[in-house]
Amino acid sequence: MSSTLTAQELEILSSKANAAKAAAYCPYSKFRVGAALLTESGEYFTGANVENASYPVGTCAERVAFGTAVVAGQRQFKAIAVATDITPPASPCGMCRQFMSEFTSRLFPIYMYDKDMKCKVITMGELLPNSFGPDDFEH
Ligand code: THU
Repeated sequence: MSSTLTAQELEILSSKANAAKAAAYCPYSKFRVGAALLTESGEYFTGANVENASYPVGTCAERVAFGTAVVAGQRQFKAIAVATDITPPASPCGMCRQFMSEFTSRLFPIYMYDKDMKCKVITMGELLPNSFGPDDFEH
């Protein structure tokens, strides 16, 4: 379960996602993506896309943020913010949806920001309905 975000947490989360765009390594697409993830314990982790000369090897901002938090021992997450330089805001790719669903519940909010920091929010369940996840191994 993801608990409700305070206005202050959302303010911090969105500005960290926006700032994280500056860390993007995207010489091929020139498409900067920044992500900021808030843990249930109140810690923030950021990520940005890291591309590669062998194009499919590149990684998205969302997976960098989640991977960094998970290797730091975090497993419970409250929300993620994703910022790009386009309008309308970009929505996480299919691979990131699956990756994020491993660690989140259906109500986990994904805040997507456009170039002017205009926000659109969607839940994990809306982004990836009928997903395959850890619970499927219980049956
Ligand atoms: N990208 C992300 O980092 N996150 C998304 O949600 C969509 C796409 C990156 C991958 C690649 O480096 C660039 O954006 C263009 O696809």
